[in-house]
Amino acid sequence: MLRKLELKSRKLEIDSVDRNEMTARVMNYVNSFYDELPNQPGIFGGDLPEERSIDLDIDSCGKDIESILGDLKRHVDSTGINLPSGKYMGYIPGGGLYGAALGDYLAAVTNRYAGLYYVSPGAVKIENILVRWMADVVGYPESSGGTLTSGGSISNLIAMVTARDALTVDLNQTKKAVIYLTDQTHHSVNKAIHIAGMSDFSVRVVRVDSEYRMDAAHLVQTVQEDIRNGKRPFMVIGTAGTTNTGTVDPLTEIAHIAGENGLWFHIDGAYGGLFNLCPEGREVLQGIELSDSVSLDPHKTLFLPYGTGAILVRDRKKLFSSFNASADYLLDYPDMNSEWSPADLSPELTRHFRGLRLWMPLQLHGTDPFSAAQSEKIRLARYFHDQIQSIDGLESGGYPDLSIVTYRYVPKSGDPNVYNDRLMKAVNASRNAFISSTRLNGNQVLRAAVLNFRTHREHIDLFLETLKEETAKLNCV
Ligand SMILES: Cc1ncc(COP(=O)(O)O)c(C=O)c1O
Repeated sequence: MLRKLELKSRKLEIDSVDRNEMTARVMNYVNSFYDELPNQPGIFGGDLPEERSIDLDIDSCGKDIESILGDLKRHVDSTGINLPSGKYMGYIPGGGLYGAALGDYLAAVTNRYAGLYYVSPGAVKIENILVRWMADVVGYPESSGGTLTSGGSISNLIAMVTARDALTVDLNQTKKAVIYLTDQTHHSVNKAIHIAGMSDFSVRVVRVDSEYRMDAAHLVQTVQEDIRNGKRPFMVIGTAGTTNTGTVDPLTEIAHIAGENGLWFHIDGAYGGLFNLCPEGREVLQGIELSDSVSLDPHKTLFLPYGTGAILVRDRKKLFSSFNASADYLLDYPDMNSEWSPADLSPELTRHFRGLRLWMPLQLHGTDPFSAAQSEKIRLARYFHDQIQSIDGLESGGYPDLSIVTYRYVPKSGDPNVYNDRLMKAVNASRNAFISSTRLNGNQVLRAAVLNFRTHREHIDLFLETLKEETAKLNCV
């Protein structure tokens, strides 16, 4: 019986002949993917018909690699929005660097455990180097620390928990504690407040100015009112690049208000924080270095595949005291703690070696191309903003702080929201670009988020051409 089981279980180890064969077929797939991508649309569309998904079911015998790749091509890589395409300018684009894919491949093959230093000193060292590098990018001091996460939502959650613990808010007094944010704060922050058990805290929505930036004067006023009313101002959340408009809050002013009133200052820089790597970004992100914590997303602004975020905390010890834990079965090498371990700085214990997908492209390319690509995206957004002024019927939002532009169609009569919805769908149906919309002051506005590393001037020009054609059609209605 044991022998029979062994024979079957040994199928899990693929021998070198099959390995080479499978890898070659996967490489063919990858090469076709790259060859086809430039000519593909920004959106494939198409629901998965129920019966087609049968191919994706799991069975007990397994399939050959070619049929698996065929299923992947049919059901996954030819449906929905074409996220890796340079034509994708909806929501918040990422990209998916090949160097990161190589890092993931190696991390999966070697399966290093990146939770505790003594288990995999090299892997943890690399993650700590990356954290330090990002801390340098935003200008955090030596005392800072952090960890790589799966994305901005988890980073924001870690920040909430750290702030809550650091300020030792008396849970019996939580109704007195106040959190300040704006209506442009990403909804993952509200989610984090709930998950962190802070639903009882009061949340004040601070006014924004005409460019959707937090109104610092209103923040001061609200904090003072709360103090007079016996409340306990606790935390302010600024955004370095809002999802709706890419706007950066007045970070330096908020930092001073936070300092004067004992508030923890968290910055949600998931979209915009890492633009600090390029000169155009640094100009608008001044003050980011003054925060107590900052969320960053390499899977957005460093063009990595989805699943790579980071949280940095100005005082690393605060992060450690919220998340470190030990267990009897993990005490074998207590002397090997010359490096901080990710498991002590986040909710995770067993961790994918996700640092390799960031370290590998940074090693391969150096930081210059990243900085250049960021500058290019900001300048493309500004170019787009300037060009749409000349399209009859379109009205642009504010000059972009970073790489998101808002604009809308203003009809001579009728409901503008209906027209903007029509325009967005027409652009997406052209497949020359994929764009999305949002609501500002109750009005639907269109957004162009330029963040995919594959988006260049030719994509913006094609998009502008399409926009011109589709707007002209609306003008004739
Ligand atoms: C400003 C901001 N914060 C947080 C998030 C959430 O990040 P994630 O989707 O990586 O969890 C996003 C996502 O777009 C964002 O734009």
